[in-house]
Amino acid sequence: MKGDNEKQQGISTKAVHAGQEPDPSFGDVIPPLHLSSTFAQSSPGVHKGFDYSRAGNPTRQRYETVLAALENGTHAFAFSSGLAAIDALVRTLSPGDHVVCCDDVYGGTFRLFERILKNQQIEFSFADLTDPEIFEKEVRDNTKLIWIETPTNPLLKIIDIEKICKQAKGRSIWVGVDNTFATPVFQRPLELGADVVIHSVTKYLNGHSDVIGGAVITNNEEVAESVGFIQFAAGAVQGPFDAYMVHRGIKTLGIRMERHQKSALKVAQYLELHPKIEKVIYPGLTSHPQYELAKRQMGGFSGIVSFYIKGDLADANRLLERVKIFCLAESLGGVESLIEHPAVMTHASLPQKIREELGIADALIRLSVGIEDVEDLIGDLEQALL
Ligand SMILES: Cc1ncc(COP(=O)(O)O)c(C=O)c1O
Repeated sequence: MKGDNEKQQGISTKAVHAGQEPDPSFGDVIPPLHLSSTFAQSSPGVHKGFDYSRAGNPTRQRYETVLAALENGTHAFAFSSGLAAIDALVRTLSPGDHVVCCDDVYGGTFRLFERILKNQQIEFSFADLTDPEIFEKEVRDNTKLIWIETPTNPLLKIIDIEKICKQAKGRSIWVGVDNTFATPVFQRPLELGADVVIHSVTKYLNGHSDVIGGAVITNNEEVAESVGFIQFAAGAVQGPFDAYMVHRGIKTLGIRMERHQKSALKVAQYLELHPKIEKVIYPGLTSHPQYELAKRQMGGFSGIVSFYIKGDLADANRLLERVKIFCLAESLGGVESLIEHPAVMTHASLPQKIREELGIADALIRLSVGIEDVEDLIGDLEQALL
């Protein structure tokens, strides 16, 4: 990206062009993949901008350029997983600092906070951040970070990012948003006042279920300096091949997201009328408790649908085993549709009591609606629910 003109461009233009200027050596329209771990120097310390690939790599740099452009950030850092990205961010805090985290958070994030980072004397509390009064109730003198997932995983609660950022302003509290579910196509937290965004790029950004990766994106110089140092010094970087793959996947992000959300809405509407379904959760349904906020905050509702089947674990398992197009697997955000059971699969790391309090019950099922023909997806659910 070269300047203000590019900043004004639409998200799909950025997705195709940012970090993709033709290669100066031979004019390759698709820049080559730089696999080298190290770079020749003409004299000690004299090189062409890169000395060692943990510190920087041309392929990773191009990929970090598009990541920053998509979120309208000034800095992006690519990590080897979404959790490595979250870990790097939270490790910038000091012992004794406190983090307020939304209660319905990805199980792996909960495990990282509770079982690893807590042992480094960082304090965590978990709260329902959809409650407008919650900020004053939860924030303490030592609070340094508010951690938001919105839509949350797996219950798809919507948290008012702008409101929380206004409350945090002037209090030396960073607001971090996990934007994995919405993607920058539908929600750009930095524009709403957040300090930092993270992604599990494993999901929609890559979009093809063949890379594990993460990203931290920010326009806050202090965050950038600290996270950049941890990326370099602790070294959980995204390798060049994976960076190349995600950069390639990002080019179709805009059209994929449109398709995901269009089909997800149809699937959600179908399920809402089905006699064997107790309740459907999708931010694009008017029955969603934060539908108005979702409409205001998001440019689209994305492709994840959660629902409670009438019955128990056996009934849920019956559906999960009978689908033919939906694949029973963890993860989300790929072109193929996935189905999963949060209580047994993605959120098993949450203690049972917390799962029960939140509503991550045996009857809860989560869909990642892919880009197949939606009639086939609905037909698949129909036969599996018979
Ligand atoms: C919302 C969210 N954030 C973070 C992660 C962790 O990402 P990764 O699996 O790439 O480490 C996940 C993984 O499912 C997720 O769903």
